[in-house]
Amino acid sequence: MNLQNASTEELRQWEADLSNEYNSYCQQPIALDLTRGKPSADQLSLSDALDGSLKGNYLSANGTDTRNYGGLEGIKEARELGAEVLGVKLSEVFAQGNSSLTLMFHSMLIAKEFGLNIDDSTSAWKSSGETIKFICPVPGYDRHYTVCEKLGIEMITVPMTPTGPDMDAVEALIKADSQIKGMWCVPKYSNPTGTIYSDETVERIAKLGSIAGDNFCVFWDNAYAVHDLNGFKPLANIMEYCRTFGTENSVIQFASTSKISHAGSGVAFIASSESNLAAIKDALGVMTIGPDKVNQLRHSRLFPTFDSLIEHMNKHAELLKPRFSCVLEHLNNAFGDNDLGSWESADGGYFISFDAKPGLAKKIVKLAADAGVKLTPAGATFPYGNDPQDNNIRIAPSVPSLEEVDQAMKIFVTCVKLASVQQALEAA
Ligand SMILES: Cc1ncc(COP(=O)(O)O)c(C=O)c1O
Repeated sequence: MNLQNASTEELRQWEADLSNEYNSYCQQPIALDLTRGKPSADQLSLSDALDGSLKGNYLSANGTDTRNYGGLEGIKEARELGAEVLGVKLSEVFAQGNSSLTLMFHSMLIAKEFGLNIDDSTSAWKSSGETIKFICPVPGYDRHYTVCEKLGIEMITVPMTPTGPDMDAVEALIKADSQIKGMWCVPKYSNPTGTIYSDETVERIAKLGSIAGDNFCVFWDNAYAVHDLNGFKPLANIMEYCRTFGTENSVIQFASTSKISHAGSGVAFIASSESNLAAIKDALGVMTIGPDKVNQLRHSRLFPTFDSLIEHMNKHAELLKPRFSCVLEHLNNAFGDNDLGSWESADGGYFISFDAKPGLAKKIVKLAADAGVKLTPAGATFPYGNDPQDNNIRIAPSVPSLEEVDQAMKIFVTCVKLASVQQALEAA
């Protein structure tokens, strides 16, 4: 289907055929959901051994009774796992509760209100009295944006490239504007494009702390650190680069087992310099007497080593891969030889990012919804829900069965084609 060279007659014929196909889908009782990046029930079942795994032994390796209060940093064996996932020393990581997003929100709140230098309250971002700004690579993760919005932090977008955020743009912005206090990053299988940041990008991000204004902090959300579909792929170690540049205070890392074990009842990790962690611990200690150490112990028994974690993730990959392949096959068949859409074929993570022709994302999402296929709202992958090109759509195929993904994708590609042909007809 080549819209550019098509005559008006051809366009009209395609429109009629596609409308018939679309209407036939609308008449079927379909309810499919490609919205959130959640594990499927089969994936969750891979971790059911968590349940009852303690068998009455609640003592951590150093003899701590995990049932009792205390231990704000988390138990040692859980921190060891976090240290390995995030590539830091044991003293640079805490194991916490069920959600890394909670840790991100709290860290941003702490940096803004109290500062990450425990001995210097003027290190708080708000103490400058100026607007606080954050860099957001786009498309990106909607919940990062809502954290900024809630805390009144202005977002500035930079484009994602195949090697990570456009670092020339990031460096230029930071040099020109000292109100920029940080940057969101999902460095491995970036949500939603699936990009893995190149070594050079990681190195340049680690260096930002030396060119930015005071108290600059990168929020490094490594949510998909071990979520490979085709074998484990390492990411360059940002903390090692920071050590060489003396910028250890300029990065806070996050991860969790949410999409490794049971989503919503896993263990989250926060890693940074010992000095940043001291400020975070000071505030955490006001919020809680300690994290859920029993759950941490359960996880440590299920994943005693990093290798056991990777083995477990290979089982996730076996379940996820056919769903991702199905999406890619539909996209290739429908758009491989035309310019109606482009996409990234992610090697891990939870999403496939699809770019339709400009001006069509909202229309496609609406057409799909009316035919029974729920997609993430258009614009959700941009700050303030505003995709300036209105062309990015995030596809999350993990939850539906393979048959459902197949059916949903048949409808999706029909919606993309129909919207594209109607747009071409309007312009003809
Ligand atoms: C990039 C990213 N970060 C964080 C989260 C949420 O993690 P958690 O469940 O640990 O709060 C998600 C969930 O989809 C995500 O995609």
